[in-house]
Amino acid sequence: MTLLLHLLLLLFIPLLTAADATVSIYDDSDKYIYYGCYNETTQVPGSAETRALGGGIDESLPGEMTVPKCLAFCGNGSTEYRYAGLEWSRECWCAQTLSGIAEKLDDTACNYPCEGDNTTACGGSLKLSVYRASFASRLASSSVFCLTIAGLVMARMLW
Ligand SMILES: *[C@@H]1O[C@H](CO)[C@@H](O)[C@H](O)[C@H]1NC(C)=O
Ligand SMILES: *[C@@H]1O[C@H](CO)[C@@H](O)[C@H](O)[C@H]1NC(C)=O
Ligand SMILES: *[C@@H]1O[C@H](CO)[C@@H](O)[C@H](O)[C@H]1NC(C)=O
Repeated sequence: MTLLLHLLLLLFIPLLTAADATVSIYDDSDKYIYYGCYNETTQVPGSAETRALGGGIDESLPGEMTVPKCLAFCGNGSTEYRYAGLEWSRECWCAQTLSGIAEKLDDTACNYPCEGDNTTACGGSLKLSVYRASFASRLASSSVFCLTIAGLVMARMLW
């Protein structure tokens, strides 16, 4: 009896989750890597209504927003922003930092389709599909590398 139940569950759970997953996460950019689904901070007590991705630029493209359009907006201007986030199906937010009080949510919480491409996820209500520039991590790892070299050189000199 329980075996039958398990078999039924095994058969039906994938069908149910497949039906739920109507949007997929865009991850086809060389420059930006998907970083996660984050909670917007405007309504978090003590946030002074600041945005999770604040201090940068933003745009809204009703009926037209897609993830690649947002990544181009954040990464192809005179300032290359480290973070790009899509919210409410049509908003694009660019910033150099992601607020420390923005909580990382399950990816499935960002399930609003982009208005310009309903197959991909563009955040949710007060939720952001966040992308991080890969040059940010390259920068970080290259500075760690430089520090290691500097450390070795200094150790050598002191020896
Ligand atoms: C997300 O932020 C809202 C306020 O905008 C808050 O009410 C909610 O508890 C937060 N959720 C999580 C999981 O942090
Ligand atoms: C930035 O612009 C270049 C050409 O101007 C284009 O090839 C590239 O795809 C754009 N980047 C993004 C993230 O869209
Ligand atoms: C998604 O967009 C396509 C093409 O624009 C349209 O045919 C389809 O009905 C849309 N699907 C949903 C669920 O909105």
